Amino acid sequence: ASTLGAQAAQSGRYFGTAVAAGRLGDGTYTGILDREFNSVTPENEMKWDATEPSRGSFNFGPADQIANRAQAGGKRLRGHTLVWHSQLPGWVSSIRDANTLRGVMNNHITTVMNRYKGRIHSWDVVNEAFADGPSGQLRSSVFRDVLGNGFIEQAFRTARSADPAAKLCYNDYNIENWSDAKTQGVYRMVRDFKARGVPIDCVGLQAHFGTGGPPASFQSTLSNFAALGVDVQITELDIAQASPTAYANTVRACMNVARCTGITVWGIRDSDSWRASENPLLFDRGGNKKPAYNAALTTL
Ligand code: XIL
Repeated sequence: ASTLGAQAAQSGRYFGTAVAAGRLGDGTYTGILDREFNSVTPENEMKWDATEPSRGSFNFGPADQIANRAQAGGKRLRGHTLVWHSQLPGWVSSIRDANTLRGVMNNHITTVMNRYKGRIHSWDVVNEAFADGPSGQLRSSVFRDVLGNGFIEQAFRTARSADPAAKLCYNDYNIENWSDAKTQGVYRMVRDFKARGVPIDCVGLQAHFGTGGPPASFQSTLSNFAALGVDVQITELDIAQASPTAYANTVRACMNVARCTGITVWGIRDSDSWRASENPLLFDRGGNKKPAYNAALTTL
């Protein structure tokens, strides 16, 4: 096939991109979006600061724009993200009472998931809850500090009730290298959830890579998570300087793991990227295909 999405579909996978509502008026951007991708993740529009900027007051305008566009184009939609310490409004991070915060978290999950019920392929229920470095433990956040480590399980149980058809993912960065303590911490959590029947369907590996691309163990990491009985997805791929080899190695790792169900790049053109100065994406500023594009397409 001649596009990323169509080629990925030949093996039952998707190839997606992050989309920003503010760019949907740009014809070069939407031209590539419509042509190449069969999955969409809102880059910022479904985050807590966007959807519930003050308590109980929800704003779905920008997220709806993206969801409607994805639906019109027949694309899958990834929900990103429900519970995250970042891009979190101050009214949430200042809550100190556990019962209050539990109610607020459950209401947020339920209300946002209800809005898009039946339209979301996968939800990043909890994002980036683990600490960097050697601890392998959860990072400090209002959720962990007020609710305890059980907040993740609580979030997943609430999410399952809200939209039973959506796949529920735990998503994080720097969990691509198998031997890292952070990877091991997430692995132990997923193993524990599966053992105890806590609902979890997928692990999202963000894959924000440096110039060398994925670590040598990346495919093993994917298959080790998959062996726990969850799908794995590459959810936010970008690679500093976008070397074709680094992109091919990333795509190949996913292709070699049956339960690696899809890849999302974190933006379309380099100029759309949150790491724009590193030119990490598949299209240049003019919207032309870069060498990494061909590497990705021919590896799918
Ligand atoms: C980034 C967006 O790309 C930026 O536009 C925003 O300013 C900050 O967040 N991990 C995630 C994504 O899960 O939501 C982040 O997206 C990148 C890191």
